[in-house]
Amino acid sequence: MMFAITRGVSPAIDRCELTHIDREPIDFSRACAQHRQYVEALRGLGIQVLALPVEPDLPDSVFVEDAALVLDECAIMTNPGARSRRPELESIEAALTPYRKILHVQAPGTIDGGDILVVGKTVFVGVTTRSNGNAIGQLTVMLEPLGYEVRPVPVTGCLHLKSGVTQVADDTLLLNPDWVSSAYFPGLNFLEVDPAEPGAANAVLVGGAIIFPTAFPGTLKILKSAGITAVTVDADELAKAEGAVTCCSLLFRHDD
Ligand code: GLY
Repeated sequence: MMFAITRGVSPAIDRCELTHIDREPIDFSRACAQHRQYVEALRGLGIQVLALPVEPDLPDSVFVEDAALVLDECAIMTNPGARSRRPELESIEAALTPYRKILHVQAPGTIDGGDILVVGKTVFVGVTTRSNGNAIGQLTVMLEPLGYEVRPVPVTGCLHLKSGVTQVADDTLLLNPDWVSSAYFPGLNFLEVDPAEPGAANAVLVGGAIIFPTAFPGTLKILKSAGITAVTVDADELAKAEGAVTCCSLLFRHDD
């Protein structure tokens, strides 16, 4: 059974961290409605949703992905690069504890889950303003004994690795080549975003389908032409907080 940890939108979202985009007003009701639509999309794809209580004082707390890396063998709590986001971890660690052995990235390592893309037994980690070499070294020590290879990937022009590249099928990545180079992913196939839609590389792969924003019709056409099945959701209000669709869930498998 696949599970997803989610958390509703904080009423403080208008005080979120922003790095690469300008602040503009966020319509809280619209953001909440979009989040509900996202959760329904997960449920529609057969995911069991574990919805955590809203955190009224943690502006970015809807973006649960950044708090942890969940693998079959363990969950690694991150140490988010933005100090304001570190209190988000406590409730997520509590939610994961029944399902996984918990490990921790320690300071001075910093890392956001949005910088981690796992493809098979390879863990690609974006080197960004949020995630540093120290944390990548810690991940390597934790994960190599479990058979994973950890590979750093330079990222420019966007917040996280997964702003610029995500997996959309078993052997296929969706990529914005201006932000992340395909050279760091040998042996995989690529689809490139529509050049008019630089923010379109973020998709959530769930089983044989992706959850994908309605805001990127050109890239959606490219995906469909490649035979990818997409469930579309409105996510433009949440995007004003510099978060994308992968950010809103922590997906993992658990069988009784
Ligand atoms: N607002 C998302 C982040 O900066 O972490």
